[in-house]
Amino acid sequence: MEKNSIHGMWSSRLMFILAAAGSAVGLGNIWRFPYLASDNGGGAFVLVYLGCIAVVGLPILIAEVLIGRHGRMSPINTLRKLALEQGSSRGWVGIGWLGIAAGVLILSFYSVVGGWTLHYTWLYLKQLLGGAPLGDPASVFQSLLSNPLELTFWHAVFMLPTAAVVALGVETGLERAVRYLMPALLVLLLLLVAYGVTTGRMADAATFLFRPDFSRINGGVLLSAMGQAFFTLSLGMGTMMTYGAYLPRAGTSIPRVLTVVALTDTSIALLAGLAIFPIVIAFGLDPAGGGPGLIFNSLPLAFEAMPFGTAYGLLFFGLLAIAAWTSSISLLEPGTAYLTERSGLRRRKGSALLLAGVSWAVGLLSVLSLNVWSDVKVPANISVLGGKNIMDVVEFLANDLMLPLGGLLIALLAGWALSRTILREQLSEMPEWLFNTLRWTWRIVAPPLMLIVLVQAVS
Ligand code: PHE
Repeated sequence: MEKNSIHGMWSSRLMFILAAAGSAVGLGNIWRFPYLASDNGGGAFVLVYLGCIAVVGLPILIAEVLIGRHGRMSPINTLRKLALEQGSSRGWVGIGWLGIAAGVLILSFYSVVGGWTLHYTWLYLKQLLGGAPLGDPASVFQSLLSNPLELTFWHAVFMLPTAAVVALGVETGLERAVRYLMPALLVLLLLLVAYGVTTGRMADAATFLFRPDFSRINGGVLLSAMGQAFFTLSLGMGTMMTYGAYLPRAGTSIPRVLTVVALTDTSIALLAGLAIFPIVIAFGLDPAGGGPGLIFNSLPLAFEAMPFGTAYGLLFFGLLAIAAWTSSISLLEPGTAYLTERSGLRRRKGSALLLAGVSWAVGLLSVLSLNVWSDVKVPANISVLGGKNIMDVVEFLANDLMLPLGGLLIALLAGWALSRTILREQLSEMPEWLFNTLRWTWRIVAPPLMLIVLVQAVS
């Protein structure tokens, strides 16, 4: 009989696809991708980003999930088991620890930004119920960032349900959220793209996003693009390994389902770009250098101008918050699974609350760096970190260093340390040539690319 995970299993292959897509699609696609494209030269960034997803992202995604399905435990214990079975170094277990740390760090600022989306949901709800219109988007956003109490409040409102869902076990509650609400978000995005067409600026937006200016491609663009590829696919920190641990064997081809997940994720990011940039251009904002406030400064302009815009704004930010929740849940799951294994199964609730609490507390640093401590910055002469505030530093450490490092180690583990038998057992449906291509990608294609990125990050 097939071995199951002690944490439970996805009820079906579809459920796994929904959960993995729910993890992948989130703030990374709709908040982060557009503003990184805006800050890194549009088409140049998008092209490198797509390359990173195809050449490195998808192969590492497959590696993570297959390792998870083989081990059936939290990343730390899965890796421990593999090391024992293969007689390889126990050092690989470090990937699991690195991942838990990255998860707590990412969740810390993810939840702060998730709080922004809740704040906007609330603003549109108030307006819909007869309140005054939002007013100038730039000042609305600035006044939110300058208010530490309000930020802390929404950060907590975002974190609590995340902790609650993980405490109860990820299958409960997640299924409904992803099955109905994510498609609804997709429909809303498509309507926004249609609205973008009516502004007459779609062609300009597409040019900005898809015509690469090759002279703008440099190490910094590669670093941001690779970091974003990992972030958006939830890679390099054990989330996908953990979700893979709950994936039933029978009849599920890992590469096939993960290609669906990666395509969904990439399409949603591109659609978000096509929704946002026509609005940015039509309302006279600068498409370049939009920064983290990009969607909050631009979308409200469109909601103000379009029919039923208030209801639209409410739905859009509400669904974005839900997409962010399905991702934040997956950030908390690997660490919670590990603590639960360590402390006995009845401790799942305590484990989830503990990690969420730590992450929430670390998030307060990000909150304060937006206002009270906005002057606290890394001295300008310290290479890549120079000029960054605390929130930027946390984001840099987690997204640009820890995720690519985790990814590099996973590629090396799958490519060089795991036996062909184990790999073939998990990838039995794959034609031989494709399997070999994948294995060589783990061995010699991905590692040097990741190394370049890491060297770029620290130099
Ligand atoms: N992929 C999520 C997003 O794009 C973020 C995430 C990163 C989730 C890492 C889990 C692990 O919003």
